[in-house]
Amino acid sequence: MQVRAFPDADAASEATARWVSAWIAENPSGRLGLPTGRTPDALYRHLIQARQEQGLRLHDLQVFGLDEYVGLGPDHPASFGHTLRRSILEPGGIARARLWNGTAPDPEKECRDFDQDLREAGGLDLLVLGIGTNGHVAFNEPECDPAARAHVVELAPSTRDANAAAFGGRWEQVPTQAMTLGIAALMEAHCVVLMALGASKHAALQRALHQPPDAACPASWLQNHPQVTVWADAQALGTAT
Ligand code: PGA
Repeated sequence: MQVRAFPDADAASEATARWVSAWIAENPSGRLGLPTGRTPDALYRHLIQARQEQGLRLHDLQVFGLDEYVGLGPDHPASFGHTLRRSILEPGGIARARLWNGTAPDPEKECRDFDQDLREAGGLDLLVLGIGTNGHVAFNEPECDPAARAHVVELAPSTRDANAAAFGGRWEQVPTQAMTLGIAALMEAHCVVLMALGASKHAALQRALHQPPDAACPASWLQNHPQVTVWADAQALGTAT
């Protein structure tokens, strides 16, 4: 994995946005897998700014959500679908988006349908990922099966705790299950951007970069992908002085 290092999160987000903007300018109707969470917030703000100020064309992109809580509908403010719509799809004028139906009566079937929709669309050209403090990517929690495609997962207690802010700070309100693209599906993306910002990601990033691929650190499987770039700040890399 190639690593791009930056002094702080702002610089990392800005540089990532410049690279992603250039990619979009060359691939205006590309298929993008986009994450939610705090990590991509500034990236999305920069992309919207580039649209407004430089006319970056976002509206022909096709976006796929990576994951969703089981039980949360698109109008729930903490649902990932709602978050993606608010942060990038609506301000970007992006109409073509496959988000997960968090309230599907049969989540396993929703996973199969999502996987089929993604395959029929031709797969992801560019995948943007964050990394969890426990090494997860999308919602592939530790001890993940690297052969899994879209599937239902039990969320790790640390993930529910990390995401509690969107639920009034109450981790017990965070759903216990989610649907996610699996490692095998993520690995099929043509090109991967992995963002790691902040000291809380240091341990996970170290393992992802330097330990042999292992189910205990889902992000480590990305070492087997030919085109991954890690965009990280000094805190996540452990080089901050
Ligand atoms: P965060 O989450 O961006 O909110 O830190 C990252 C993740 O859980 O993948």
